[in-house]
Amino acid sequence: MSKKVAVLPGDGIGQEIVAEAIKVLNVLRSDFGLSVETEDGLIGGTAYDVHGTPLPDQTMEIAREADAVLLGAVGGYQWESLDIAVRPEKGLLGIRAGLDLFSNLRPAILYPQLASASTLREDVVSGLDLMIVRELTGGIYFGQPRGIRTLDSGERQGFNTLVYAEHEIERIGRSAFEIAMKRDKRITSVDKANVLESTELWREVMERVAGDYPEVELSHMYVDNAAMQLVRAPKQFDVMVTTNMFGDILSDCAAMLTGSIGMLPSASLDANGKGMYEPIHGSAPDIAGQNVANPLATILSVSMMLRYSLDEADMADRISQAVDKVLNSGLRTRDIHSEGMQEVSCSAMGDAVVAALRG
Ligand code: IPM
Ligand code: MG
Repeated sequence: MSKKVAVLPGDGIGQEIVAEAIKVLNVLRSDFGLSVETEDGLIGGTAYDVHGTPLPDQTMEIAREADAVLLGAVGGYQWESLDIAVRPEKGLLGIRAGLDLFSNLRPAILYPQLASASTLREDVVSGLDLMIVRELTGGIYFGQPRGIRTLDSGERQGFNTLVYAEHEIERIGRSAFEIAMKRDKRITSVDKANVLESTELWREVMERVAGDYPEVELSHMYVDNAAMQLVRAPKQFDVMVTTNMFGDILSDCAAMLTGSIGMLPSASLDANGKGMYEPIHGSAPDIAGQNVANPLATILSVSMMLRYSLDEADMADRISQAVDKVLNSGLRTRDIHSEGMQEVSCSAMGDAVVAALRG
């Protein structure tokens, strides 16, 4: 039986980059015998405009029935003044929570061809290959109570809650240790245990989980230091595991080490390996509709999807090899362009990957 993929392009450049990723998926189907079906759904601002909600029931249903979800991005200027409950970002947070996708894998890998595109010195970043494992369905993003209230004094006060139950820390810890076992077997757990009790518990549970993985070396780092170390000496890290919000921030930082956030895919997994795959960059409304976005992060997200959720490692390899070939040939979208390279559009980049797959 063929596997099912829910395709949710979303907003902004989401539409353009997902179109290129689908071109790639279609070639795998037509030329290489991949058996998958796709079904499209709306999410984010685009869904709000049609249904008055960023996560319509139909979309959740399509996503639930699928073996994997491919997502573009959500958000845009035109929806920024909406009530926070129906903003595009709520669609993304809703689907993460609804599918229980607690483990977010955000690799930061430097393609040797792009070493000169990084703002950091080549010797600092060349050979970089780190994996950030971000807790995705808990912490301050979802903690209750939250809101904006009016105090007796009449002044308004905004508040959020950072909470982590032991089972939430334990499962993201296991997820990270399992990944470390397949890599260099080193984990840095990032917290703020010197100030926040919730992450004091985080540290304690990580230690406990480590007991089941004697081959893996666990160390702890405060988040402020981790941010500094990421730009000072990023190659010291193998796997980083951290909370939802720290992971949000550190993964953007790590992405830029590689030259462009436009290159990096991500996977968000549940306990059974079902996942949602998306580029880690956002909807980039400033360049939406101009055909200049980099589709490679989304194309590489398809590769991750084939590997982690669809059990099609060969197909996944085909994609990564094709991307490698295209980069070797000197084609670059604007975000990764440097002297001597040929600048191409979003769709031309997609076409080039298709040609590389075929050739
Ligand atoms: C991300 C994004 C999201 C997040 C936003 C769009 C809600 O920044 O995936 O990193 O904060 O998780
Ligand atoms: Mg983010």
